[in-house]
Amino acid sequence: MLVGGILFLLVMHFKLTLILLTCVPFVIVPVVYFGRRVRRLSRDSQDEVANVGRYLSQALRHIKVVQAFTHEKHDAQRFSATVDRAFNVSVKRIQQRSWLTLMVILLSMSGIGVMLWFGGKDVISGEISAGDLASFLFYSIIVAGAVGAISEVMGELQRAAGAAERIMELLSAKSAVVSGASEFPSQRMTEIHQGDEVIRFDNVEFRYPTRPDYAALKNLSFSIKQGEMLALVGPSGAGKSTLFELLLRFYDPQEGGIYLAGENIKAYSLDDLRQRFALVPQETVLFDQTVYDNLGYANRNASKESIQYSAEQANAHEFITRLDKGYETRLGEDGVRLSGGQRQRVAIARAILKDAPILLLDEATSALDAESESKVQAALEPLMKGRTTLVIAHRLATVLNADRIIVMEQGEIIAQGTHSELLETCALYKRLADLQFNQNDDVRTD
Ligand SMILES: Nc1ncnc2c1ncn2[C@@H]1O[C@H](COP(=O)(O)OP(=O)(O)OP(=O)(O)O)[C@@H](O)[C@H]1O
Ligand SMILES: [Mg+2]
Repeated sequence: MLVGGILFLLVMHFKLTLILLTCVPFVIVPVVYFGRRVRRLSRDSQDEVANVGRYLSQALRHIKVVQAFTHEKHDAQRFSATVDRAFNVSVKRIQQRSWLTLMVILLSMSGIGVMLWFGGKDVISGEISAGDLASFLFYSIIVAGAVGAISEVMGELQRAAGAAERIMELLSAKSAVVSGASEFPSQRMTEIHQGDEVIRFDNVEFRYPTRPDYAALKNLSFSIKQGEMLALVGPSGAGKSTLFELLLRFYDPQEGGIYLAGENIKAYSLDDLRQRFALVPQETVLFDQTVYDNLGYANRNASKESIQYSAEQANAHEFITRLDKGYETRLGEDGVRLSGGQRQRVAIARAILKDAPILLLDEATSALDAESESKVQAALEPLMKGRTTLVIAHRLATVLNADRIIVMEQGEIIAQGTHSELLETCALYKRLADLQFNQNDDVRTD
């Protein structure tokens, strides 16, 4: 429409249209200049609004902690500062957009003014009639209006482009962990016989990407045999949970390799690899869904009966049936409706339901009372039979049942052996055993 309008004006009056067109570059410059600013600010505004959402959802989710530490006032102030920042960026963006529109209108109107000046002179000299000038003026105002509309659209487009840039950036972010191509040869697991090596850590060194100067694991070499129960012990921060995270390939080690059934775990597809492990994490994560959904998370095809069966085995069936809607009860955000010990039993039931060949238990029984723990322990035993089990243990019962114990300190293995061997040879183990086990009221060595 704009091009058609200009052609029409050219036919009507060549000279005046040329005068009008020389003003165009003056209009384009502010469009580009302010357009860029609008684009950058629109991107910042997107980030700031996301910050507001993040802050709010965190504070509301952990409202009990906020209240327990009487942090309401402080949080309200910080929240209002976050909102202010988002508001200020939006105001700046709107200011720049208004400048854009103002400049375009001002410049296109000045163009018309210049054209009127020359046109008026032509009318006086009799080159054109006053009527011609009036109609030319009328049409050129319509064309200038179209230019104004374009500046509006440009502003809108730049805003969308700024937001889209950020979204594209997030969408194109690549995980540092790249899935391998090969399927896990399922027969390989069955080919492995009791006593063959299943997992091997070969000189592994690992630093978390957020702490590149600190080696969470170093010089780590050990292997686990099929069917073996291996316990990991060590002080807090020794790197025990990190070891599990590497096995599941949440991260890749910077040096060395981890081998499963003789093949580097990087070779397997991530799904396939993770299918081999059933993890009971240190902190149980539950979703705001029913108990069935939460348990069935481990196996989407599981029937209600098998879900209930695994709950029974994990000593969870009883408290679940006491919930107001039993297995259909929603657990609330982060499973707030369950106690710490109950949550852990749900996590164990999940692992039982997953029925994977390798079990990873991270202090699986630490939040249980003595009675529940012995029941869970009893449930875990048949589950562990014949299965390769790696357990991060704090309890004497678990350690005594282990075929082998690895003692870790500051990311390194400092000793390995059986309980009685380590008591003799490893001072740290002896100290841990004295502290954690002997002074514990509910220690059972049976
Ligand atoms: N996501 C992370 N980013 C950066 N550093 C981390 C991260 N997770 C753990 N670490 C660090 O790595 C080290 C090992 O942590 P890890 O969780 O493996 O210890 P742990 O042996 O499981 O301890 P605990 O017995 O207390 O569970 C610690 O120094 C910890 O601060
Ligand atoms: Mg841990």
